[in-house]
This record gives sequence, C-alpha cells and structure tokens, in this order.
Amino acid sequence: MSSPNYLESSPVSLSSQRRRKSAFSYRQLSQLASSATSCPLRVIAHIDLDAFYAQCEMVRLGIPPDKPLAVQQWQGLIAINYPARAFGLNRHVTITEAVKLCPGLIMQHVATWKEGDEKWAYHEDSFKNMATHKVSLDPYRLESRRILAVIKDHLPASPVSKVEKASIDEVFLDLSTHVHGIMLERFPELKGPPPYDDPTEQLPRPPTTALEWDTDALVDLDSTETEDDDPDWDDVAMVIASEIVRGVRAKIYEELKYTCSAGVARNKMLAKLGSAHKKPNQQTIIRNRAVQHFLSDFKFTKIRNLGGKLGDEIVAAFSTDTVKDLLEVPVEQLKKKLGDDTGTWLYNIIRGEDHGEVNPRTQIKSMLSAKSFRPSINTLETAVRWIRIFVADIFSRLVEEGVLENKRRPKTLNLYHRQGAQTRSKSASIPMGRTMDEALLFDAAKGLLAQVIADGRAWPCANLSLSVSGFEEGVTGNKGIGGFLLRGDDAKAISAALRESSKPRNPETPPPSKRRRVEESGIQRFFGARQESSGAVSEKEEREDFREEAEEAHSPFDIPPSAQLRSDDVSRSHAGEQRVESTKDNGRYTCSRCNSSLLVTEQGEHDDWHFAKDLAADLAAEERTSSAAREQSRPPSTSSSKNPAAQPKNKGRERPPNVAKAEKGQKKLKFG
Ligand code: CTP
Ligand code: CA
Ligand code: CA
Repeated sequence: MSSPNYLESSPVSLSSQRRRKSAFSYRQLSQLASSATSCPLRVIAHIDLDAFYAQCEMVRLGIPPDKPLAVQQWQGLIAINYPARAFGLNRHVTITEAVKLCPGLIMQHVATWKEGDEKWAYHEDSFKNMATHKVSLDPYRLESRRILAVIKDHLPASPVSKVEKASIDEVFLDLSTHVHGIMLERFPELKGPPPYDDPTEQLPRPPTTALEWDTDALVDLDSTETEDDDPDWDDVAMVIASEIVRGVRAKIYEELKYTCSAGVARNKMLAKLGSAHKKPNQQTIIRNRAVQHFLSDFKFTKIRNLGGKLGDEIVAAFSTDTVKDLLEVPVEQLKKKLGDDTGTWLYNIIRGEDHGEVNPRTQIKSMLSAKSFRPSINTLETAVRWIRIFVADIFSRLVEEGVLENKRRPKTLNLYHRQGAQTRSKSASIPMGRTMDEALLFDAAKGLLAQVIADGRAWPCANLSLSVSGFEEGVTGNKGIGGFLLRGDDAKAISAALRESSKPRNPETPPPSKRRRVEESGIQRFFGARQESSGAVSEKEEREDFREEAEEAHSPFDIPPSAQLRSDDVSRSHAGEQRVESTKDNGRYTCSRCNSSLLVTEQGEHDDWHFAKDLAADLAAEERTSSAAREQSRPPSTSSSKNPAAQPKNKGRERPPNVAKAEKGQKKLKFG
C-alpha cells in the first residue's frame, strides 16, 4: 500500500506541538557526509531492471515496448516481459502453455555457443540442440555493463557515491555523501558549527512542512505516525535521494531504452524490498517512519538470508512465517532458540536494522563456464569438445577484461568434473611466460581433464565446469615469474605447472601413486606426450571468489531455490556426502537438503541450485583458507556460503550469514 502522490511530510510525532529541534544531531549529519553505516540519516537505493533478459532482447531486436516477449532457453522460459505477464505468463509455464495463453507471444531463444564457433551467436535452431550448444548470457552481461556505466556516469565519482553491482540486473547505491552535499547547498543553516561546538546538539528542524515526492510510491507510515507531522532531515534526505534515483533511471532510459524499478530506504535490505514493491518502471520510498508498517506485511522468509533453511528453522521454532508475529517474540527467546548471534541478528533485521555496507566492486575475480550433460557424456572426445567451447567462452571474456593488453591476467585454471554423486576438481597454474591465448588455456584444460581421467571413474560424466581465477593486475612484459619455467618447451612447462588441487571431498580417490593407469597410454597419445607433474608445484594459490559469476546468479535475496538458477548449464548435486535425496509424493517432492516442497519437474533445476551453492561455498571456503592468515578474526561461518542452509548448524557459535560482511549473492556462481 502506498499513499497518493501528493505533498507529504514528516518525522517523529512526539505530540501535536511542533518540536523546534530535529531528532537528529550535528554528529549524525556529519556521519551522513562520511556514509557511516550506523548513520540514522543514511540513504541507500536499489535499482533492478524490469524483466531484464526480455528487455535486452526487445532493445536488441527493436521490438515495441507493448509487444509480449519471452526469452526461451531450450524448452523453458527464463524471462517474461510485462506485456506478456499480463497474459498470465510466468517462468514456470511451458512453451506450449505460453503460446496458448498469449498467442502473439514473441519467443526469443538465448544466444548459444556452438562447437567450433569463435563466438556465441543467436542460432535459429538452438532450442533443438541442447546436446551440442551451450547457453551464453554474454549479451546480457554486456548490456548490464553498459547500464552500469550510465549509472556511474550520472553520479559523482566514488567515494561521493558508491555503486555496488549486486547481480546482472541490479545495483545498490549509497547516496549518503552525495545527499549530504545537496542538503548543505539547499539548507545552508546546516553548515554552521553546532551550538557550543557540541556535536551532540540537535539540528534545527527543516524549514519545510511538506516535501515533494513527485511520482514516487510512498509506503504508508507506521500506525504510530501521521502524515501531519512536519518532515525531519531523514525525510529530506530521502526526497533528495529519490530525485537522484529518478534522474538515474531517466538517464538509463534515455540512453539505452531500459526501464527499471528502484527502492530508496535507509539500508540495503529495505531498499531491495522497495525496488520489488512496485514494478515495472516505478520507485518506492520507505521512509524511516514507514519501516515497521512496510516490514510487518512481509513474510520474513522473503528477507535476505531468511529464505533457506534458517528461515524454515525459524518458522518451525516459532510456528509463524510473518514478521508481524515474530516482532512479538522477545530477543531472549530468539537467542535461546537460535543462538545468541542469530537471535540478535534476527531481532534487528525484522525491525529494519541492517548496517550492510555498499561495496563498490568493479573487478571481476573469476570466470566460469559450465555445462550439465543430460544425458551424461561418455567419451574423451566429447569432453574435449566441450572444453574447447568453455575455453572459447572464457577467453572471449578475458579479452574484454584486457588480457591481451596484459591489464589483468588469471593465475589459475580449475576444472570441475562430476560423475554420479562425486565431484572432483583439478587446478593448474596458468604459465606466466606466454601470451595468454586460447591454445594455452586449451592445453592446460586438457591437461586437467587428463588428470581426472587418470584418476579413473570419469564416465559417465554429468557435468564439466572450467574456471579461471586469481587475477593479477598489470602483468608487464608478458614475462612473469613463470618465464624461466618455460625455456625451450611450452608443453613441458604447462605439464609441470599442472597440479592437483586438494581433494578431501572424495575419500575414495586413491592417492596419486595408486591411481589407475589403464587409460594412460591412450590419454598420452591424445594430449601429446606430456608428463604428469611430480606434484612438487606447491606454490600457494590464492583462490578468488566467484564474484562476477556470483553477480549473475540472481538476487542477493533468498528467492526459493526452485525459482533461482535456471540455467541448464548448471550442474547438479555435489560430493557424495551431500547427495540430494528426496521424497516424492503426488508430483511433488521434498528436498532432503532444504526441506522445500517442490514440483518433481523442478527437481533438476533445484538440484542444480544446491550444486551451485555448494560449489560456491567450497570456493569461498578455499579462498578463506588461503586468506585465513590475513583475516584471522573472521568466524568460519561468515561470508562463506550465501545459503544459511549450507552452513553448519552450530547454535551459539553460528553467526547469521554475512551480517555486515560480504553480502549474500556476491559469491554466487554464474553459469552459462
Ligand atoms: N533469471 C533466470 N532464472 C531465474 C531467475 C532470473 O534466468 N530463475 C534471469 C531472468 O531472465 C531475468 C534476470 O535473471 O531477466 C534477472 O532476474 P530478476 O530480476 O529476478 O527478474 P526479471 O526478469 O528482471 O523480472 P523483474 O522485473 O521481476 O525484476
Ligand atoms: Ca529484474
Ligand atoms: Ca534482479
């Protein structure tokens, strides 16, 4: 519910008497200037593109905005524009149903990589070729970058405004410093030193009694508040922020013809809820005095970090899924049932308290290309063909990252292989002494595949994923420290650089000395004479997290797993100990890992989602291990997994996921 768009106002309703002082102090105003996360005047925005992939296709194809369009991936729909949604279409309808519901529907298949191609392309028959094509989301990634560039261009440079790309189609903005500057310009009385030079003195009240909210959707105020109260500085800050956001949105439309929705509030959690509140092409403001009203209408399972197992546990513990009911529960009781940290965190979050920082992150830290095989693949030749596609995919992205100019260069190549319930990974250092090209990556990747095969039990293979990570800046002269390794013989160097990653997750794998050698001669022939590394390459690799990939795996919010990762190119399940088992009933089943009730037809996708989560958690864990020395104080359960469900249940010690640390969603994997 929102109020009509007329002049609105005001703050703390202490009484009918007008207070002469603001509720905010000079110190708090200066905290606004420095974007302090604890500042009560803080202004954060979240911008989310409307039906993003669908809009990308409409813009690319020049389709008028009122035409219904859906983006197809194989036999499913992954994005539906708003005109098509009016016909009742959503991501879960089949193509047949979609055409029945909306006869004029334009269906555009996503771009794909085809074996042997240098680049992804829009292939007319791609939907028939799931077995030989691989989805490419590059077109959307590129549009995402252009949009980000427009946003940044329109705002003052960091640190005056901070921009965090939160997923392929969303950003958070910390506008605090920027808004502070505008406030001082508009209200010079704020500039003066505080009375008695005491920063705890309260500010004068704003000289206005009403604020112009323009076209924004305002969330209704809390029941204890009234619109008759005069505005305070937090309202003023919100109005200014909403003007800025409206300007950014207009610019995106003007320059690139994309519409988006936005939320403006005092923190990320609320801003994110705000952007989803009214769609498409609208912005919602959650004033501080409206927070409680706004939140109490939500199920807490919609709040970031509460969508998974943790949310389910809370539902079970308190027999409710509404914020309203949970607000009644005393903090002591929350702590008793959930542990001190989680209890306190939950207590605050349902009261709209979130001090998460907006982190400007621009650098891609890793890239991943993956494919699930349904049915599984059984031959080396097929696997190598896929590896060639992965390499082309990753290499084209590396080129965009400036690898040809040696701006940045990844140090590590990783191959993941899944057979049945078992996932294995192999890593190699990418030789520094050679120009990075496809052949170099392809050779190294084949070497990793050879190791997997040498371990035995390679077939049938259900998933292969290749990634590069450990980016280094400005490698000069293309002759890094690895140069000396390469004298004479590149192949040897690559081979020497190959090393196994730690494989604790598969206790059944025999140690290297006992590995099966049966296939070796064949492999050696295939890959060219190459010796396996002595295993002496012990250089410690710094694992980077999968940020860019993360960005694309959808919202930092916990939408149900069944609705999240949709790519067919995501692999399923994970190491044996975490095999997804489920109980089925009437076309539905309950996932044993997260207890979600899902349609059996959603199972593949859902399992993929767990796999991706696990993989991301593993990578984050490895990264953590390698950076443990640097950050000893960080508790093991923080910032690793985005899924509270994936975290060990250890009450008391358990800390709510990512509180004031890395935001959820930042490390999700992107596939395709
Ligand atoms: N996406 C996907 N699979 C999902 C969820 C999202 O492939 N399970 C893709 C969609 O195609 C989408 C983009 O990620 O275009 C962004 O997702 P999201 O913001 O959740 O949805 P939108 O399609 O942008 O729609 P909305 O207007 O509701 O934001
Ligand atoms: Ca969106
Ligand atoms: Ca989104």
